[in-house]
Amino acid sequence: MNLYKYVSNAINEKLGAKVNLEVPKNRDFGDFSTNAAMVMAKAAGKNPRELAAEITPKLAELPFVSETSVAGPGFINIKLKDEFIWTSATEPQNPKSDNPQTIDLDYGAYNVAKTLHIGHLRTSIVGDTFNRIARALGHTTYSWNHIGDWGKPMALIIAWIEKLHPELPYFQENFDPTKPVDFDLDPVELNTYYPAASALAKQDPEFQAHAQQIKALFQNGHPGYFALFEKFLAISMDMMYATVQRLNILPFDYNLGERNAAKYLDEIEKILTAKNLIEESDGAQIIVVKRETDNKPMPPYMWLDSRGADTYDSTDLAAIYCRKQTDNPNKIVYFTDQRQGLHFEQLFRVAEMSGIYSYENLEHIGYGTINGRDGKPFKTRDGNAATLDDVLDIANEAVAARVAESGKKLSADTISIIALAAVKFNDLMHDVRSDYIFDPASVTSFEGRTGPYILYTAVRLNSVLKRATFSANADYQPMTSDERNLLIEVLDFERTLHAAFDNRATDMIANYTYDLCQLINTFYHNCPILREDVPDSVRAGRLHIAQIAYDTLAKAIDLMGLEIPSEM
Ligand code: ARG
Repeated sequence: MNLYKYVSNAINEKLGAKVNLEVPKNRDFGDFSTNAAMVMAKAAGKNPRELAAEITPKLAELPFVSETSVAGPGFINIKLKDEFIWTSATEPQNPKSDNPQTIDLDYGAYNVAKTLHIGHLRTSIVGDTFNRIARALGHTTYSWNHIGDWGKPMALIIAWIEKLHPELPYFQENFDPTKPVDFDLDPVELNTYYPAASALAKQDPEFQAHAQQIKALFQNGHPGYFALFEKFLAISMDMMYATVQRLNILPFDYNLGERNAAKYLDEIEKILTAKNLIEESDGAQIIVVKRETDNKPMPPYMWLDSRGADTYDSTDLAAIYCRKQTDNPNKIVYFTDQRQGLHFEQLFRVAEMSGIYSYENLEHIGYGTINGRDGKPFKTRDGNAATLDDVLDIANEAVAARVAESGKKLSADTISIIALAAVKFNDLMHDVRSDYIFDPASVTSFEGRTGPYILYTAVRLNSVLKRATFSANADYQPMTSDERNLLIEVLDFERTLHAAFDNRATDMIANYTYDLCQLINTFYHNCPILREDVPDSVRAGRLHIAQIAYDTLAKAIDLMGLEIPSEM
């Protein structure tokens, strides 16, 4: 049950007004409080305390209320009946939204032949958790890995391979695409091509110009370049799938990116031309998106660059067009680095101007940077920009060291499950829009607001459930405050899910999970279950509470794409 919603609706109905219900930090005086009397006092021509004294008896009539009191200038505290809490927490949860939507989610968005870097962590982790939350609420989502497979990097890599192996048939006039080419690309080596080629292009104008030419030919279907591209595409796709597995994120519904979108460009050009939106500027074709009300620079959208090549801009508009035809979503939400904010603002304006998709249903969630302890973008020990694998490897080492130090024996699998939880939880618990510091030592700690702490809580509670040789009793029993607080937190799960979805705030789920774990651990310490001196009826009731708490914790852990190890 969504306790907050249930109580709030009942109070609104009782008072015939929409009142603001709050959850006090300290529950000693009540489970909820409201400033209704203070808000309504003016219109009623009464003083707030007086009005509160009139309202409280009405609230006390609600069947789930055990106590009401007035505090301070007219706050009303409401305490719920224990039995009501118990039975509500015992009912199955049903967090389905009243307004199910179809939503396209654009995250991951990896690039062909470019090593995944630390920045791809956040788009993957946050995008995946948001996807899971949306699905848990009954929305239909489609996840799009909008692969970077059409731009200049493809041309640079082709140019680089041509430099290394000019004799290959891909570069010959009479290339025959039906004949297999005896050429093996090494994945590790492939990863070095893009940085090398892009460095060379910066120094060598001739190489640069050649790459530009390759880009145009490639986009126009040059058979040799395309055959070579397919070779490195296959390797890149394998690397992407490996990453998806290593990160334990849901498989993408579509692994279709810029190249797929480009198929729609001709159709879209007709739409843009009919609306007179395209202008010539220095040999390029642009769309002016600036509005009079803009108070920050708003450069034009690049439809075709001055060499006649498709752009990141044009293929992104085409991707919206394609999604409209494929999924016809109510909304499209993008998760990328916030430095792409301007690009998305331009894109959304063009989508609206062209009539392809409405501005208000396009959303960009721009995330911040992952920094090192020095506050600068996180680097590996040798001073290089960190790849996605580096980050996971570093976390793995830190967990392994910690485990070795503690004298525990954990399998390599368990260590990587814990390391992944450390990285993902640390990412999710921060507001997606802000930067955060990645400190391997602190994120892998088994105590505090960390992934390992969350998993440890689950493993320990689960071990009690597994060791119990008696059955739980779901019939109401008097509760201690620790038991009561825990069940109230469980009853806040559904509200948190909705709030995390509505606010596009995956951190709400992570921080809820931490609060839940704190209460589970207090319960674990203060309310023994298996100890011999505990009366049978008490232990059967506690086992019931432990089971409910575990189920909710397991759901939350799954929403974050973490796994509960079998031991810890
Ligand atoms: N491939 C791009 C990158 O790695 C991100 C693409 C995001 N999605 C999009 N539709 N533009 O930066």
